[in-house]
Amino acid sequence: MGKDVIIACDFNSKEEVLAFLDKFTGRKPYVKIGMELFYSAGPEIVKEIKARGHKIFLDLKLHDIPNTVKKSMAVLSRLDVDMCNLHAGGTIAMMEAALEGLVRPDGTRPLLIAVTQLTSTSQERMEADLLIKEPIEEVVMHYAHNAKLAGLDGVVCSPREATAVHNKCGKDFLTVTPGVRFADGDVGDQVRVMTPAQAKEIGSDYIVVGRPITAAADPVAAYNRCVAEFVD
Ligand code: C5P
Repeated sequence: MGKDVIIACDFNSKEEVLAFLDKFTGRKPYVKIGMELFYSAGPEIVKEIKARGHKIFLDLKLHDIPNTVKKSMAVLSRLDVDMCNLHAGGTIAMMEAALEGLVRPDGTRPLLIAVTQLTSTSQERMEADLLIKEPIEEVVMHYAHNAKLAGLDGVVCSPREATAVHNKCGKDFLTVTPGVRFADGDVGDQVRVMTPAQAKEIGSDYIVVGRPITAAADPVAAYNRCVAEFVD
């Protein structure tokens, strides 16, 4: 499985995202489309970006009863996305149903990745709000293992968890890691960050990079720097 840099295209309109992607006249970046853009621009934006030659990670984090998730995944799969995701908290049965829904008539399907515990959830909130008393690192690893048991392809995780996930679930189980920053760049609101080179070193399979590219004075140069550090 090839390593790649995924740009988090956190824009809220079709015009903005297409103007941004117009800048990339060479290598076509892998694009992450999240809830904000999908809910504002609709499924058409996925088709349009796909038609321009980009791979797409559709980051909608599904979580519902297995039957609903299965049918929804079938709809998303028909948009010809390359990767999509769900919450592992929906249980193994939900994840298995999602995988079934994703398989296209020709037998192909997008990669399916699980979110374990959101990085915005602290140990304290998990214990008080969710009544989960175990250490959050154990919960993350348990959810990753559940995703593996359900047949999923990998998890979204912090670069700092990537090695542990590979140790528990195997080196082919994909780790998709946000929280990436250049050594000389702004950290912003991300707390535990790694450079693209460090993420490569510890075995991340895909890095998800947003503002270090989208807010750069020269986004194409910033993207090329990520590729040079992480992929080449
Ligand atoms: O701009 P930045 O590089 O921080 O963007 C990171 C992207 O990855 C955003 O789309 C953010 O929502 C997403 N993400 C994250 N941390 C997670 C899961 C997803 O930053 N744990």
